Amino acid sequence: MILTGHNTMKEKIKKSILKVKPYVPGKPIEEVKRDSGLKRVIKLASNENPYPPSPKVIKAIEKAATTVNRYPYSDCYYLKDALVKKLGVSSSQLIFGNGSDEIILLAVRAFVQPGDEVVLAKPSFLMYSIDAQIEGAVIKSIPVKNYQYDLQAMKRAVTPITKLIFLGNPDNPVGTYFTDQDVRSFLKGLRKDILILLDEAYFEYVEQKDYVDSIKLLSEYPNIIVTRTFSKMYGLAGLRVGYGISSAEVIDFLNRIRDPFNVNSVAQAAALACLKDKSYYRQIATDIRQQRAYIYQELTKMGLQYVRTYTNFIIVHIAEADKYVEFLLHRGVIVRSMSAWGLQNCFRLSIGTQAENRQFINILKRALKDIKEHKL
Ligand SMILES: Cc1ncc(COP(=O)(O)O)c(C=O)c1O
Repeated sequence: MILTGHNTMKEKIKKSILKVKPYVPGKPIEEVKRDSGLKRVIKLASNENPYPPSPKVIKAIEKAATTVNRYPYSDCYYLKDALVKKLGVSSSQLIFGNGSDEIILLAVRAFVQPGDEVVLAKPSFLMYSIDAQIEGAVIKSIPVKNYQYDLQAMKRAVTPITKLIFLGNPDNPVGTYFTDQDVRSFLKGLRKDILILLDEAYFEYVEQKDYVDSIKLLSEYPNIIVTRTFSKMYGLAGLRVGYGISSAEVIDFLNRIRDPFNVNSVAQAAALACLKDKSYYRQIATDIRQQRAYIYQELTKMGLQYVRTYTNFIIVHIAEADKYVEFLLHRGVIVRSMSAWGLQNCFRLSIGTQAENRQFINILKRALKDIKEHKL
């Protein structure tokens, strides 16, 4: 047997990977229960839907479970057909992924070469920079202004070697949105060989009339890819299904590098059933809106500042935020530290059910008192 030196693999690994900081997800409920011994733990950390899937979706999952001895449809045939009808696009314009994460990954893998520039907002969804770093891109992070994308500064950052621009609308963790007019002025005069990834993971939560009509935009800009997901509003985060919409040309490129069975059959059946159960999800949207208003009201009473968002999560401003993240965690409420995004004075909270939000507010009140009084 040949014994290898300690550094050998480090020397062999793609250099770009050495710089990558692994994505740290929100802690799972079971892990916190195991570590803390607490019986009741709630998770408000990963922008999930706090409600279970609709009874019709559960039925579809049960039915699909009986045929998992077969491989799934490679092209998500029925799900694709339903979205073709719903969105009014052609089937060649759609691609499905193991979460929209996979569509982002495929787009970066297909287009970005070492040394290409990628423009994104700071802070923004962490997978944008992780995927781009892996491909050896030069990342240009443009700070948000007042928690809004600074689209003018992002446009100024474009150079002849810019390959890809990430636009999260609304983005995570900021939660704000830009309008149709904003994105149209941004695109005007921009080279049409730059891929624009318009991430709409949370678009179902936005009710504003001036929100981007991305399907219309796609008919004018074949270099845009819109990504969406069943993880957020439709509550299928655990099944992993998302999709991308673009020109047939871009979708064809992504399909060449996609694993043939990347979306499992249970996920396909569940997503299709979600699309058919509109009233259930409409009710959830109303509920999240009401709960958001409740949380805003309670934070204001506590004298805390927050970012007004158009999503199911909120950034809360508080000095030494990680102390509060820990305090809440030890009492069974998981919220997200923003230190991975470089934000020390805030944490992110996903909107839960009424009972969960009340529990969060009560514990936060205690935290404010204890941390201030006892200088914890
Ligand atoms: C802005 C944004 N885009 C994409 C995703 C990926 O979601 P999924 O892979 O579950 O579709 C997330 C998940 O948190 C997100 O916040």
